[in-house]
Amino acid sequence: MTENDVAPCAELFVERHAARRASNPLYPTNLDTVEVVGQLISSWLSTSDGIVAEQDGTLIGYLNGRAVTGLGGVRMSVMLEWAHATCADAPRSLFSEMYTAWCRLSGRPETTLHKAILFADDVVTHDGLVQTGFGRHLIDGGRAIGASDGGRVVDSNAEVSRPTLEELDEVNKMEAGLDAHLNAPPIWRPKSPGGGHLYDRTWIERPSKGLWVSRSKGHITGFMSAEAGAQDPKSLMSPPVPHITGAFLKPEARRTGASGALLAALLGWIHDSGWKSATVDFETSNPEGAGFWLGPAGFQPLLYTMMRRLDSRYVDGA
Ligand SMILES: CC(C)(COP(=O)(O)OP(=O)(O)OC[C@H]1O[C@@H](n2cnc3c(N)ncnc32)[C@H](O)[C@@H]1OP(=O)(O)O)[C@@H](O)C(=O)NCCC(=O)NCCS
Repeated sequence: MTENDVAPCAELFVERHAARRASNPLYPTNLDTVEVVGQLISSWLSTSDGIVAEQDGTLIGYLNGRAVTGLGGVRMSVMLEWAHATCADAPRSLFSEMYTAWCRLSGRPETTLHKAILFADDVVTHDGLVQTGFGRHLIDGGRAIGASDGGRVVDSNAEVSRPTLEELDEVNKMEAGLDAHLNAPPIWRPKSPGGGHLYDRTWIERPSKGLWVSRSKGHITGFMSAEAGAQDPKSLMSPPVPHITGAFLKPEARRTGASGALLAALLGWIHDSGWKSATVDFETSNPEGAGFWLGPAGFQPLLYTMMRRLDSRYVDGA
């Protein structure tokens, strides 16, 4: 890929994305123009390599990737969701062929971890990634918020309300419990230094932040929170929509309906504040999280993050 390819690549992406957005309005407008997508591709091209695929002189696909540090300090080679696209009627093997060509650009892999993010409706690319050794690691999900989410009645004995200032310590202890859950088997999330949220008074005072706790017989049993603001991935959260930042029930409160009561309060707040959708992300290896968000919570996958682990002996200095 050269700088001359940037505009046609951006046009290809924007055409596919327009069709995607027409069938699913949960995808926001920020990747709608050739200028924006062209700038993104161009900025990456200055420090990375890309591949273009042509058929009879017409561009039918592109792929661009580079090494970054993410997941709390892990070096990896990343293909972001706007850094690859194939035309609508592309050969089924096109993504795998572009990935193969990209890997062969240099004899050695830059990192032991390859990561690709793709839009969930792109089944052909998903299958191409699986065929080349990738597996699903993370799901970014979204959900429309409608009038029925305001004042929803839930079948649960849990009482749900905003915490008081004094109760934030209890919320932060549960946040530590959530962190421990994500660090434990079978999730084994890479530990991020300084990761997690600190629930301070802004979570009670700021209109862009929503924090709710559940109680049983006067004792706090869980929390759920969301925040509208600049967050990743930008293809879903710009302009900002509320993103669920935490959900945790103490083990004795699980499978009691308390999660539904917390969710109803959170979605009611989102609706009353005027937002039309919300997002969440979770590890596919988290049975409780994946079961809840894709099940009763009603979220649908919008992006998949796929990973492929390489043998460290092939990487210099690994
Ligand atoms: C996620 C959480 C808030 C969901 O609350 P919950 O009360 O356990 O979930 P629900 O009773 O509403 O269950 C909803 C669905 O989740 C799935 N689920 C919940 N626990 C599960 C488990 N241990 N294994 C597999 N599926 C599970 C089921 O599909 C269930 O539907 P079903 O009851 O019809 O089978 C709670 O389990 C929790 O705090 N887990 C630990 C922290 C966590 O993972 N937070 C989410 C981070 S993304």
